[in-house]
Amino acid sequence: MEGNPSQLKLGSRGANMTDTSKTTDLFGKAQAAAEYIHSKTTLLPTIGIILGSGLGNFATHVKSATRIPYADIPHFPQSTVVGHSGHLVLGNIAGVPVAVMQGRVHAYEGYTMDQVTFPTRVLGLLGCKTLIVTNAAGGIRTNLTQGSIVAISDHINLTGTNAALGPNEPRFSMVPDAGQRFFDMSTAYSLHLRTLAIEEAVRQEFLLTEGVYLAVLGPSFETPAEIRAFRILGADLVGMSTVHEVIVARHMGLEVLGLSLVTNMAAGVPAAGRDTANTINHEEVMETGKLVEKQFTCLLTALIPQIAIEQLIADKIS
Ligand code: HPA
Repeated sequence: MEGNPSQLKLGSRGANMTDTSKTTDLFGKAQAAAEYIHSKTTLLPTIGIILGSGLGNFATHVKSATRIPYADIPHFPQSTVVGHSGHLVLGNIAGVPVAVMQGRVHAYEGYTMDQVTFPTRVLGLLGCKTLIVTNAAGGIRTNLTQGSIVAISDHINLTGTNAALGPNEPRFSMVPDAGQRFFDMSTAYSLHLRTLAIEEAVRQEFLLTEGVYLAVLGPSFETPAEIRAFRILGADLVGMSTVHEVIVARHMGLEVLGLSLVTNMAAGVPAAGRDTANTINHEEVMETGKLVEKQFTCLLTALIPQIAIEQLIADKIS
């Protein structure tokens, strides 16, 4: 299955719709990054995947892969966190052209919102119509267990900032009517995509529940009192990433599937069958990633061709 050869032009869709003198050079930087990537491979990805802490190994399953270090891509931010390898991997999963980010950067590393979401902008310009965003998360809902995968149904952004801050850049519109100053977030996480994921998990004989992801800035883990407050707010999961990438993806008009891996129970939440909660550390997060690697890989590998077929059907209808 091939991507859309006119993708870089697609990125210019909004250029006529506004006074571009008011926009930033973020678009130009993202275009330079996309052009550099095009100089390294002819592959035209239709699905972008961001791998969270402990999940980076999925990228080793990409066939006919071109691996580009983030350090080589113009303007790409570098991850400083253990477990985030820092490579963009372009190739095929089950015959579908994908672009996989092996590691991401976070606001707690000191990056600006534009830097945190820059790779997402580039995935859009490369032609990805769907973003699969994954993360490690703490489980707030008491019936979650360490190692379970959860389909994100919605998020609560408590990071205190928003990735769409600053001048609006309508050239980032990848589908008609996207790239607006104000944009809807009521269906940020596609119901259709997470239904596909839940049905696939049933076929693979494990339970994939849905949950609300609450994002904090980090890097400290939360206090038990914060987790109790977040539960009252309606959160099932807590983490330090994802929401800004999803905001930017929705600004561009990409469909989003969000998957959280519960690497630990959140602060003060005892694991099932225990009376007291453990302390939390990054090593535990990484180790849990390794434990569920096979299940996570099987789920994604089965989902990717299903998503690609849905994209083809959507393209035919539009
Ligand atoms: N809190 C915040 N972020 C996380 C956690 C957590 O408990 N686990 C993995 N990422």
